[in-house]
Amino acid sequence: MDDLNIQWYPGHMTKTRRMMEEDLRLVDAVCEIVDARIPASSRNPDIDRICGDKPRMIILNRIDMADPEMTKAWAAALRAKGMAVIQTDCKTRRGISDFAPALRKLLADKLRRYAEKGMAGKPLKVMVVGIPNVGKSTFINQIAGRKGAKAENRPGVTRGKQWVTVDQGLLLLDTPGILWPKFDDPEVGARLAYTGAVKDDILDIETLAAQLIKMLSSRYPDAVRDRFKLDPDPEADGFRLLAAMGRKRGYLLSGGEIDTERTARVLLEEYRSCKIGRFTLESPEEGL
Ligand code: G4P
Repeated sequence: MDDLNIQWYPGHMTKTRRMMEEDLRLVDAVCEIVDARIPASSRNPDIDRICGDKPRMIILNRIDMADPEMTKAWAAALRAKGMAVIQTDCKTRRGISDFAPALRKLLADKLRRYAEKGMAGKPLKVMVVGIPNVGKSTFINQIAGRKGAKAENRPGVTRGKQWVTVDQGLLLLDTPGILWPKFDDPEVGARLAYTGAVKDDILDIETLAAQLIKMLSSRYPDAVRDRFKLDPDPEADGFRLLAAMGRKRGYLLSGGEIDTERTARVLLEEYRSCKIGRFTLESPEEGL
């Protein structure tokens, strides 16, 4: 599994962008996979510029972990921006069968032109892009009907393109485009960390958990109250909320102090495994 610790530096980004621009010439549409829990933070900040006016699809993935109402709201907001949207859980294949029909609808004008020119059987070609760890490989494997095998997961190579047959008339490039997140924005970095896209060992786990419990207290107060038996006062300091959680759970050090590090790890683990609930951490109103 790639992770976001992958070193993106200006030269690497330029090379990646150039390779993707080559792949883009081969395809009729670009399908960007995002994490439905953080649909804005898991996008690439330069994607509009990179794709130019190619027709676009957004795949809201990991819907099994996201708030269903928010996923609906995100799908509507992204459609209003002119993009095709599908909602998937790549682990169970939910939504995978919506891929081909949604693409045909997106590319209806192109299909009509092909038919008018007597090229009715010409296949549509599309590619998948996304930041590391959003599920690109899993998605391509599901589309290809493969189990286990890792799809070739590196920036595009120019020779020997492999195509996955989605159905007669629709081909998917086997190699996804790996793009960088908006890593210069600390809030985006934090959201990627809450969801587990960034490794914990590079972050201050207690600060991260304090921010997360504060965010959950304001967005999902009932769930926080039920799970942690504490007053989810959104005005309260995150560290106080975390300490209150540790106290309720009885996570104490030998001197009787609250073990805030253990509490922080437990909170993050319970968020990531959806034990607290299925939560989306950003809304379309906050910006796409
Ligand atoms: P990438 O190519 O974009 O880097 O991502 P990849 O497919 O490797 O997926 C990253 C992790 O996300 C994998 O978990 C994968 O199983 C999981 N994943 C992908 N799509 C979904 C989804 O819709 N729902 C859920 N719940 N998980 C999804 P992993 O930890 O690497 O392995 P494993 O847990 O599958 O063993």
